[in-house]
Amino acid sequence: MDMRERDKPKVVLGVSGGIAAYKACELLRRLTESGHDVRVVPTAASLHFVGEATWSALSGNPASTEVWESVHEVPHVRIGQAADLVVVAPATADLLAKAAHGLADDLLTNTLLTARCPVVFAPAMHTEMWEHPATQENVATLRRRGAVVIEPAIGRLTGVDTGKGRFPDPVEIFELCRRVLARGARTLTQDLAGRHVVISAGGTREPLDPVRYLGNRSSGKQGYALAGIAAARGARVTLVAGNTELPDPAGVDVVRVGTAVQLREAVLKAAADADAVVMAAAVADFRPAAYATGKIKKRDGQEPDPVTLVRNPDILAEISAERARPGQLVVGFAAETDNVLDNGRAKLARKGCDLLVVNEVGEHKAFGSAENEAVVLAADGSETPVPYGPKEALAETVWDLVAARFAEPCP
Ligand code: CTP
Repeated sequence: MDMRERDKPKVVLGVSGGIAAYKACELLRRLTESGHDVRVVPTAASLHFVGEATWSALSGNPASTEVWESVHEVPHVRIGQAADLVVVAPATADLLAKAAHGLADDLLTNTLLTARCPVVFAPAMHTEMWEHPATQENVATLRRRGAVVIEPAIGRLTGVDTGKGRFPDPVEIFELCRRVLARGARTLTQDLAGRHVVISAGGTREPLDPVRYLGNRSSGKQGYALAGIAAARGARVTLVAGNTELPDPAGVDVVRVGTAVQLREAVLKAAADADAVVMAAAVADFRPAAYATGKIKKRDGQEPDPVTLVRNPDILAEISAERARPGQLVVGFAAETDNVLDNGRAKLARKGCDLLVVNEVGEHKAFGSAENEAVVLAADGSETPVPYGPKEALAETVWDLVAARFAEPCP
């Protein structure tokens, strides 16, 4: 094995017996193509859906089910010990139960007991099985121990049924695995477990007529990074997304909105039981006073009518002033072009939030880019600079600051 092979992150893909096993082939392909050394450990039941030959061919590694194969290599211990990440996709109700209770009757459950790396479960099952108190308690146990259990998606299930329990999108599971691998051992600290966080992302569009709107250049990437990282840290996440092209992050409840008024309604509704609200969306401060139900036409020889604007509600100021529950933390964002810190400090005081992430807008910074650089100002006067880097890194810092405040005793 050359150095490069040895340096590849080692991922164990556990596959349990559900029809969604075929979708795990796509997850496996993405993992191998992006430079991960993947060892597939299917349960015996899962081989009814996808056979061993498929897993071996796609991973380039043997795919064993039982602890009795290659016993001299002690696979029931070594595979888990060597892993940088174990992802079980799909995870059936039975597999979650076994993992929660520490049963070890095949290679996958043995691997789960010996792994000391981050573990991600992507459940797939019928709604009744997911909602059963036994499954819910098993999921809570696994999360308490530091595992990332993705909330299943809502949609078409096997047969004619529809509901919660659908296997999350493999692309999103892949993205989550990448984030978890990047966080390494930190993933085991699920410091947002049991918390509900609400994040707004993207930009609002204020319609002038059926074909035109006033909008902004927000891509939504920072808000999506905040949502993805919060989910990886164990939070229940509601993402209120305005006009983004980005795919839904795995395990996150996404509410799509168009205008500032719709965004306000969705954020206030979700904030009612939230522990933290992060307003990363670029909300239009103004909207056209009137909406033309027909397309506004140009008229020969006439100047266009001026567009009259009215103020939109300031959602950040409103949720900061009227906290839906005691101790709720509110985080705002501010994009500034000059006097960045002075304007930021004034805005923090004016809006009344706990934290304000201030970034300078300019070329390759903030809007549209995957990188960002910012200072997080806090109401207690502290300032945390975040160097230029991926939006995920800024998201980590924001959640570090939020988690530290959650840990403080309530005044
Ligand atoms: N925000 C909001 N409701 C609005 C406008 C903005 O909740 N109607 C939130 C944004 O989500 C962000 C913060 O407030 O968290 C940004 O504040 P804002 O005053 O809009 O910033 P700027 O547009 O930079 O403000 P100004 O025009 O005062 O520079």
